Amino acid sequence: MAQQPQPKLEIDKYERTYLILAVAMVGIFFAAILAGAFAFNVRPPDAAEFVNPLTLGQTEFTQLGLFDRGNNNYDLYSIAQMWQFNLGPGVPVEAGHQVLDIPLNARVTFHVASRDVNHGLFVQYHNINLQLVPGHVARQSVIFDRPGTFWVVCHEYCGRGHHNMGFMIRVGNA
Ligand code: CUA
Repeated sequence: MAQQPQPKLEIDKYERTYLILAVAMVGIFFAAILAGAFAFNVRPPDAAEFVNPLTLGQTEFTQLGLFDRGNNNYDLYSIAQMWQFNLGPGVPVEAGHQVLDIPLNARVTFHVASRDVNHGLFVQYHNINLQLVPGHVARQSVIFDRPGTFWVVCHEYCGRGHHNMGFMIRVGNA
């Protein structure tokens, strides 16, 4: 009986190229994840900062509002609750909404916690988009480098007053 010749695995050269490219891309993406996590410390939001939503008044959220830290740095402490961002007393109200004035190029660090349900915080035309989950503290810094008046809105449906939950930041008294 004649020996059957062993069939040779034929891969088209284009298919081989694309196979190699696809595997290389998976490797590159995986390396990017590792580099991000360990070299650049990029982490998904985690439960590092718990806060009891029922006792926010006994935490760093005792005093709410905008605090001037010098050198154009500000801290903004707010409690999100149905259906407003509590910014503390004495914030001027214009056309039914609170307005905070900050100078141009101010760096504002938002510290926000929810007292009741899920809320969100988004600042029009700026790179900030926070989920405000009860029990967690959300923090993010933003530099306000363009003059104007910008909405800060809740973007997470939180009940019948959701569409009215917001305030304004006026930059450079524009
Ligand atoms: Cu708070 Cu929507």
